[in-house]
Amino acid sequence: MKGLSKSFHQGGREKKALTDISFSIEQGDFFGLLGPNGAGKSTLIGVLAKTVNPDCGEISILGNDINRDWRNFKMCVGIVPQEITFDPFLSVYETLRLQSGYFGLRDNNKWIDELLEVLDLSDKKKDSVMRLSGGMKRRVLIAQALVHRPPLIVLDEPTAGVDIALRHRLWEFMEDLNRKGHTIILTTHYLEEAERLCRRVALLNHGQVAALEDTQVLLKEYSKDRVIFALSAPLPKDFPFRCEKLPNGFYSMSYSGPEELRRLLEALEAVDLKPEGLELGKANLEEVFLRITDE
Ligand SMILES: Nc1ncnc2c1ncn2[C@@H]1O[C@H](COP(=O)(O)OP(=O)(O)OP(=O)(O)O)[C@@H](O)[C@H]1O
Ligand SMILES: [Mg+2]
Repeated sequence: MKGLSKSFHQGGREKKALTDISFSIEQGDFFGLLGPNGAGKSTLIGVLAKTVNPDCGEISILGNDINRDWRNFKMCVGIVPQEITFDPFLSVYETLRLQSGYFGLRDNNKWIDELLEVLDLSDKKKDSVMRLSGGMKRRVLIAQALVHRPPLIVLDEPTAGVDIALRHRLWEFMEDLNRKGHTIILTTHYLEEAERLCRRVALLNHGQVAALEDTQVLLKEYSKDRVIFALSAPLPKDFPFRCEKLPNGFYSMSYSGPEELRRLLEALEAVDLKPEGLELGKANLEEVFLRITDE
């Protein structure tokens, strides 16, 4: 993507949804597109789907420009939208056959059956899509995005509102697609999910890229491991470690590595304080996210 911008005009007011977005995603990557509500994530995905027309900028997949090579571009990408939208009169199977038809695929039944199998929808094949539960509808949306076996798969909050078991299955499914060589772009508000799955993440804020890094690098730079503990008496003023005071006699301190943690415990012992309810928290994307969006 190069220099992508998009403004919406509503009620005489201009809303900049995307401002000068430029970055590229490597083939085979598992990429997280993160950001608060209204940051511009779905707008960016809309540009990929060509349902949103950018004011300026360029975008291409595997060398196919969205305007000049639209047919090839479209074959390269499968999009799982945030909103659930179906033709209410079709069965699951018909939905997928129709979608295949849009890509000129006549004999796609074997692949459709395979997709239904992995997404655990085989026994719903003949059911009307509108009668499915929310989680099942989401799985049909995923199958729909995959009928033409696109090298790039974009998922806009695929795990929003799905139960824990299905979420875990979807994680495995996405990881498996990625292992098979598909490039994945994932949007999610579950930062643990992004941390677990995404090798790289872009953090959008107010339509701009606020950070773009390897997940591990972001974690190192913006978040630290921390220890939380309670003390029965206050810390002395000249205590050698900087601890943050929390309510109810609790303290929090960030540390790097077990050596520093050991020295903290020794220092507490030296002033005759026994930490209670000791809890260790790992560096996490949630903290990274809050710090960057705050800044
Ligand atoms: N069709 C539209 N008309 C007017 N404004 C729009 C339209 N689509 C999006 N916007 C505005 O553009 C901004 C970005 O919206 P977008 O849906 O891309 O956010 P998002 O990052 O996907 O948020 P969420 O996490 O809530 O899904 C918002 O301010 C939104 O109100
Ligand atoms: Mg969105």
